[in-house]
Amino acid sequence: MIGDKKVLFSGMQATGNLTLGNYLGALKNWVSLSDEYECFYSVVDMHSITIRQDPAILRKRARALLTLYIAAGLDPEKNCIYYQSHVSGHAELAWILNCFTYMGELNRMTQFKDKAAKHADNINAGLFTYPVLMAADILLYQADVVPVGIDQMQHLELTRDLAQRFNGIYGDVFTIPEAYIGKVGAKIMSLQDPSKKMSKSDENPNGSIYLMDDPDTIRRKCKRAVTDSLGEFRYSDEQPGLHNLIDIFCACTNRTPKDVVSEFSGSGYGQFKEAVGEAVVSVLDPLQKRVAELEKDKSYIDSVIKNNAEKANYYAQKTLRKVQKKVGFPEKIR
Ligand code: TRP
Repeated sequence: MIGDKKVLFSGMQATGNLTLGNYLGALKNWVSLSDEYECFYSVVDMHSITIRQDPAILRKRARALLTLYIAAGLDPEKNCIYYQSHVSGHAELAWILNCFTYMGELNRMTQFKDKAAKHADNINAGLFTYPVLMAADILLYQADVVPVGIDQMQHLELTRDLAQRFNGIYGDVFTIPEAYIGKVGAKIMSLQDPSKKMSKSDENPNGSIYLMDDPDTIRRKCKRAVTDSLGEFRYSDEQPGLHNLIDIFCACTNRTPKDVVSEFSGSGYGQFKEAVGEAVVSVLDPLQKRVAELEKDKSYIDSVIKNNAEKANYYAQKTLRKVQKKVGFPEKIR
């Protein structure tokens, strides 16, 4: 708890171009959470280097992501938006937690297995202990809730196990975090293969709408979206392509599928795809303009980076000092 609010922590990597799926499924819904929770949103650049990165690109993307958070409506006075690498407590707690994590536990992590297979030439120790750094992120702020996708649940389970193990030995040090299950955002699928999630690492660029796509690209991708040959305008699992387009349309216009089906029941898919394109443009165009405005204001973004790193560091140090004392590190002489 911070004051009378529960703490919420989430992290996002600045690798790859964010998609409409990231926005409608996560970011957009985070905006309303800051009234209820004390929110920390970290740009987890330390996690990013577990895969080899071009330094200039990583730096640029990390700043772009942080700017996007603000453009999406996260007020940086209320939400702590910061770079993980600016708070050294993440690395320090991760080291300590490493000493409480078993090799066997990490060996079971499915994301490690997937990434190791994908990057067979660079299976580094950081990739192996990635989940421990993630546990440190969460536990450092005594987070109560963590909004994560299904792909990160195993890491969150490990975080809970580590926190419980540590508490079992040393007493109540860490808050045991839970997955955030509140209003969940729309689950947006690939436009080219509606059985797959829309992904920033999709090899087919037509499957994903990127947040920075220009209006014509957005319209074109919607027009080319895969549907079916039934030719019936319904919201049904048997028509996954159309289902996905309706979800996108609803998320962009705040309407319900029922409503949309009745409005478009007489129209062809082509006409609806055009409407979807316009709806997406009407959401992303203003977002892109806000990003462009913010990017011009370098000193404002810099001040957000500085102030929020200080705020994050304050809370991180509180936890870290406790933990260091528990494990037997000598007190610093001040
Ligand atoms: N591993 C997460 C992902 O790739 C990102 C992340 C890092 C994270 N630390 C976190 C998410 C802490 C939630 C909480 O999506």
